[in-house]
Amino acid sequence: MALIAPSLLASNFLKLQEECEMLNNSSADWYHLDVMDGRFVPNISFGLPVVEQIRTATKKPLDVHLMIVEPEKYIVDFKNAGADHITIHYETCNHLHRNIQQIKSLGLKAGVALNPHTPIILLEDIICDVDIVLLMSVNPGFGGQQFIPNTVAKIRSLKKLIHQTNSKALIEIDGGVTLENASALLHTGADVLVAGNTVFKSANPIDTIAKLKITG
Ligand code: DX5
Ligand code: ZN
Repeated sequence: MALIAPSLLASNFLKLQEECEMLNNSSADWYHLDVMDGRFVPNISFGLPVVEQIRTATKKPLDVHLMIVEPEKYIVDFKNAGADHITIHYETCNHLHRNIQQIKSLGLKAGVALNPHTPIILLEDIICDVDIVLLMSVNPGFGGQQFIPNTVAKIRSLKKLIHQTNSKALIEIDGGVTLENASALLHTGADVLVAGNTVFKSANPIDTIAKLKITG
């Protein structure tokens, strides 16, 4: 069955505790936390203090997506704030292998994220070292954007690469995931769906999460 990771970027920050309780009572598997620095992406979201507070509100894994330059400078801080998974962008790392090893040496799951324009083939020499590959299905920086259809072809080639190399990496899709496209994504090979607006702007988020989960 699919893993569902609601993105709290679309939640009501004034009611963060209630939003966390809702997620705890739902079939959501991970909390997806989008950290943006206004440099790698043209937006600023939230950082360490918010992650730290969310940690006290749930036992579910915190899936931290770092959309920041020089992520290596903050990996230890995000671990201390309570992250269980840390995903860094291919485009921000000159020393991706070193940074992935750093995340894993802290006992966390390590993920690499690709922007929509970054080809799968660039993962050939790192695919066996990562626990998660996050494919951006919108340009990172904002929630509520339209899904980029080419992502489906990327899932297909990533799945192939994972099979060929016996990698254990999970495929996570992030951006523009809806109740309409979820099933195609899962049938093509996605393991984890991130959903922000689809969950938090729906009339019944718990129900929406359940629907996303049974789609696969
Ligand atoms: C975008 C973020 C996504 C975003 C998804 O930069 O990485 O996680 O919150 O939001 P939706 O699901 O609304 O597209
Ligand atoms: Zn994200």
